[in-house]
Amino acid sequence: MLKQILVTAMAATLTMGVALAGQTPNAITIHAGKTAANNGQHMYASYCAPCHGTDGKGNGPAAGALKLPPPDLTTLSKNNHGKFPGSHVVTVLQFGSEMPAHGSAQMPVWGPILSKMNRTNPQEKQLRMSNLSRYLETIQVN
Ligand code: HEC
Repeated sequence: MLKQILVTAMAATLTMGVALAGQTPNAITIHAGKTAANNGQHMYASYCAPCHGTDGKGNGPAAGALKLPPPDLTTLSKNNHGKFPGSHVVTVLQFGSEMPAHGSAQMPVWGPILSKMNRTNPQEKQLRMSNLSRYLETIQVN
């Protein structure tokens, strides 16, 4: 069972470990490489698809190693009375998940990672989060 997720932001030579309950040698490493802040789809493919899947349905290659499957991100609107919860998405990215699986959130908190990537331009972090959110809006099912 996976106990550790590592997110490495190559662009900022940052290595970030998210330790989960207990310790085992298993780890997922997500290379948070350089992406354009205006390209939500590319950021999604690099940073999110390993868990949430290329199609957003929660079946990425790392999903099986998590305690609970990552949620289907194509039904965010459907589960919110048909309205895309953009500010919720940005909040989850900035501060982490509000619905941790069994007491320990498995999703990396992206705020600090994106901050380190964009040290020289703090506004770019907001741009990244809002473009990720906008991309998710485009993959919603009815
Ligand atoms: C290491 C796996 C992993 C990665 C990488 C990941 N997530 Fe998640 N995500 C999860 C899990 C698991 C949850 C469920 C909550 C929890 O356990 O933290 C979640 C929850 C969410 C939620 C909340 C869904 C809801 O219904 O409230 C959103 C939104 C989300 N992720 C978006 C993203 C985006 C955007 C990215 C890329 C920037 C991303 N995730 C990267 C695993 C991941």
